[in-house]
Amino acid sequence: MTFCEYRPGLEGIPATQSSISFVDGQRGILEYRGINIEELAQHSTFLETSYLLIYGSLPSQEELAEFEHEIRFHRRLKYRIRDMMKCFPESGHPMDALQACAAALGLFYSRRALDNPDYIRAAVVRLLAKIPTMVAAFQMMRKGNDPIQPRDDLDYAANFLYMLNEQEPDPLAARIFDICLTLHAEHTINASTFSAMVTASTLTDPYAVIASAVGTLAGPLHGGANEEVIEMLEEIGSIENVEPYLESCIQRKAKIMGFGHRVYKVKDPRATILQELAEQLFEKFGRDHYYDIAITLEKAVEERLGHKGIYPNVDFYSGLVYRKMGIPTDLFTPVFAIARVAGWLAHWKEQLNENRIFRPTQIYTGMRGTPYVPIEKRQSEQDQQLLNLVTG
Ligand code: SDX
Repeated sequence: MTFCEYRPGLEGIPATQSSISFVDGQRGILEYRGINIEELAQHSTFLETSYLLIYGSLPSQEELAEFEHEIRFHRRLKYRIRDMMKCFPESGHPMDALQACAAALGLFYSRRALDNPDYIRAAVVRLLAKIPTMVAAFQMMRKGNDPIQPRDDLDYAANFLYMLNEQEPDPLAARIFDICLTLHAEHTINASTFSAMVTASTLTDPYAVIASAVGTLAGPLHGGANEEVIEMLEEIGSIENVEPYLESCIQRKAKIMGFGHRVYKVKDPRATILQELAEQLFEKFGRDHYYDIAITLEKAVEERLGHKGIYPNVDFYSGLVYRKMGIPTDLFTPVFAIARVAGWLAHWKEQLNENRIFRPTQIYTGMRGTPYVPIEKRQSEQDQQLLNLVTG
């Protein structure tokens, strides 16, 4: 067995072999099962793309119709999960609520029937179908309202937007939201997908796998960045303040939210598409003044940090799209999770196909042969420091 040298964050170290998606970080290429993201964004839907990712090829018309029907049928939540949500604090973050509800699904469905294709299919359908309902239900309940029941006559994207405020969305907004879900569905071995794979490798149930991934996505260096980008644009406040803000970040070596990527060293292709979608919304519904700050910041960052490969990533423009749709800022990451469930499920299935439990090694840097000192003979940290001072 050959040992690789230690790389913090496993940077550049393969953790698996996968045929689900491909990224070329130097040329800004993203493909799902070999189809480039631009084609899928233009021609596909989120559910068709989910089928492609999870089952490995584009569905026939019958396969897609059946998949869509199953998901419409499973959108509703067990009343006990809704009752559980009633105990959540309104001030809690929606990602914590989502993680709790995803894990709770495992209480209702038998565990570990992982060798049963019907169980696998049911888990795929339930998670894709119910995660949006959970996000929308928490949104309504934290405002003191009853959750809005899913509508079977609305497609996946339109139904989610409807459940957020009981208004049927504008068709353009629904189509753009569906494209956003496709763009966020999968991205090789990112932190939350790796978390899903590690959890899956122990052969626990798929609901625990998705709960692990949701918790990982929530972090500000990963899926939580889209929410932080809007807060950053609010803090910048004006075009005039872009340069001083950027200078301050550079001086403090602070990360600029929505920029940089472990793999992309050019502009994330998803950011390019999201920027176009934002402009389509602005044309119809009015321009967001934060957009002018954002494009000014992008230009300034490229001038100052482009040489280091720091360019906009998927999180930089997504929030401006969601804001224009009236989605609250702290729901941006749950929306990311709704989409990424497709990729997490695809990697869950792929891991099960050729499973070996993840158990990496370490480079030990601690003490060896340390004696056990009875407590009465131990000196407190302060005594020890004083003794060192006195004895020099
Ligand atoms: C996602 O992995 C995926 O595929 C993730 C994702 C997906 O679809 O699943 O694409 C989604 O998570 C997008 C990333 C969202 N996060 C952010 O926008 C937060 C801000 N970005 C950074 O925290 C950072 O860019 C990371 C975490 C995304 C990547 O960090 P790396 O690869 O660990 O890079 P690094 O921290 O080692 O930085 C390398 C250099 C450093 O400079 P030096 O010390 O070498 O001089 O680049 C600099 C960093 O300071 N740098 C930044 C920066 N990101 C890196 N400088 C300023 N602002 C930034 N955002």
